Amino acid sequence: MYEPTLIAPSILSADFLNLEAGVRMVEEGGCDWLHVDVMDGHFVPNLTIGPPHVRALKQVARTPLDVHLMIANPDEQLDWYLDAGADLVTVHIETLADPVRTVSRIHEAGARAAIALNPPTPIERVLEYVDQLDMVLVMSVNPGFSGQSFIPSVIGKITALREHMDRIGHRCRVQVDGGINRMTAPLVAEEGADVLVSGNAVFKADDPAFEISMLRRIADEAHERGLG
Ligand code: DX5
Ligand code: ZN
Repeated sequence: MYEPTLIAPSILSADFLNLEAGVRMVEEGGCDWLHVDVMDGHFVPNLTIGPPHVRALKQVARTPLDVHLMIANPDEQLDWYLDAGADLVTVHIETLADPVRTVSRIHEAGARAAIALNPPTPIERVLEYVDQLDMVLVMSVNPGFSGQSFIPSVIGKITALREHMDRIGHRCRVQVDGGINRMTAPLVAEEGADVLVSGNAVFKADDPAFEISMLRRIADEAHERGLG
């Protein structure tokens, strides 16, 4: 079944002195979700925002908050983000002691759940949980910073993930995050990725609205090519 590509601009690339203006800009530009990058300076070598920002963003956002937790101890801090209004929570497989339990907690709170994997992490680590997930996030950079270059070797992971989903008859969204732009979007969309995070390509564009619609169109075309 074909699902239109969703575009989730990462507010990490917005102007932090005026996040509301950044939110308005990409929402008026037609984005589907707002991607919120939470980094703890421990799981990743950078520190960004936390629950108060998520709560504040929730006050002004009209699109779902897609909260990407790049933190070492999600089981301890999960409730902070659920309470703050996350609509979808992504946790990293590298940080989970009991993925089934963490995913159930997210679902019990009424949010959607995703598991992310870093570029060096093999896809086999997540396959047994796929049937319980709303989305898998395949990282296409080592998490920590926006503006990094896309790592092409992750493309095969998207292919393998889609093949696995076809085998088990459970399809969930596949998100790709890191270095997504007009050049790289078709490479991942053709393999079946259908949620694209984009930081710099959207926020640093001369016309972010145009960039969002271009990315969506390029990805939709590639996605259909991949199915054909
Ligand atoms: C990387 C973050 C990404 C990043 C995307 O650690 O998870 O969401 O900000 O930014 P770009 O699209 O500029 O790579
Ligand atoms: Zn992210």
